[in-house]
Amino acid sequence: MAQYQSVVFDLDGVITDTAHYHFLAWRNLANKLGIAFDEAFNEELKGISRMESLEKILVKGGVADQYTAEEKAVLADQKNVEYVALLVDMSPSDIFPGIETLLTELRAQGTKIALASASKNAPMILDALGITALFDYVVDPDEVPNGKPAPDIFVRGAEAVGADPKMSIGVEDAVAGIRGVLDAGMFAVGVGTPEQMEQAGAHLVVEDTTDLTVALLNAKYQK
Ligand code: BG6
Ligand code: MG
Repeated sequence: MAQYQSVVFDLDGVITDTAHYHFLAWRNLANKLGIAFDEAFNEELKGISRMESLEKILVKGGVADQYTAEEKAVLADQKNVEYVALLVDMSPSDIFPGIETLLTELRAQGTKIALASASKNAPMILDALGITALFDYVVDPDEVPNGKPAPDIFVRGAEAVGADPKMSIGVEDAVAGIRGVLDAGMFAVGVGTPEQMEQAGAHLVVEDTTDLTVALLNAKYQK
């Protein structure tokens, strides 16, 4: 039996490569608005809600006060329509390598599994990937008062499956997400480059999800 009670996963960039599709859709919108957008700036949007991401893009372009709330809602909607269109062919083959085995083996050893994604598209994506049944709970981002980098969504994920957040693991690819995991008192696993993830404070870093195994978590987990 593992010493941890639950593993709370981020979705975009951890379970599947949707982080890249978010980037493409935001870049298109930013370009249409005449705002420069690159991979470095996109890092700041990872883990951040749709409306907050739009706001950051408009602020970067110095045009945040040129749009009404209604116009901003329309822009966010345009991005989402484009983003969802990019997902149309999504299938179980789009799950990152090793993730389905990890989920299955965690379940087999009695570990509870939750999803803590800022994305309102998360349930649809889990369905398209065919892995909804492997999660004990999927947090609706609207359930919690504060989005990432706040710890709320991770605390909710652990507690919803009957686990103590301080006896749980959070898996994230975003700097804002690692912050939330740490502030929830969880053991933080970062998926990404060692430079970025260690700087963010991750306790354990994997560059590739192939390396993210139950054996590794059981060996490295510390309360
Ligand atoms: C997060 C992504 O998981 O969800 C962000 O890292 C995204 O890039 C956010 O903006 C909200 O997603 P959605 O699907 O509700 O627009
Ligand atoms: Mg992510």
